[in-house]
Amino acid sequence: MKQEKRKFLILNGPNINFLGIREPDIYGRKTYQDLIQMIEEYAEKVGVDVSFYQSNHEGDLVDIIQKAYYDCVDGIVFNPAAYTHTSVAIADAVKATGIPTVEVHISDVSKREDFRQISYLRPVAKKTVMGQGLSGYLTAMDFLISLAGEGEHKDAGHH
Ligand code: DQA
Repeated sequence: MKQEKRKFLILNGPNINFLGIREPDIYGRKTYQDLIQMIEEYAEKVGVDVSFYQSNHEGDLVDIIQKAYYDCVDGIVFNPAAYTHTSVAIADAVKATGIPTVEVHISDVSKREDFRQISYLRPVAKKTVMGQGLSGYLTAMDFLISLAGEGEHKDAGHH
């Protein structure tokens, strides 16, 4: 039987839709559409299915994480943006689903303001990627693919 492609959700929080407009010295000049295109091309190359979601609303992000559970998503590449530093609800949702999740930040948050040093997501994420620009999303995908090799998927209890 042909194996189904693994399904990854590429999830982005507030203001990531403003890539290319917002603080280009920090986040670069590429747009959110450029990000999607880059990831789609990479997904095609490495043979995974990707879906995308971006929201500026905390509850929306919780809803989509819960939906990912029912949709049997195999991994989440997640840049919660500012909610990284504030949202217990989002971290709880990720933990609740048990879906392997990689925390991504375009900038190197470790070198920025004190309020960015807290991440509620980090303790429930499998890995954190930061400071690699947009290619950090691809690093996160590679990591999720490598987890599959260890047989970490399809046994999370939601299949
Ligand atoms: C960010 C870093 C966050 O501190 C910030 O609030 C963002 C983007 C990043 O990708 O570098 O909106 O997550």
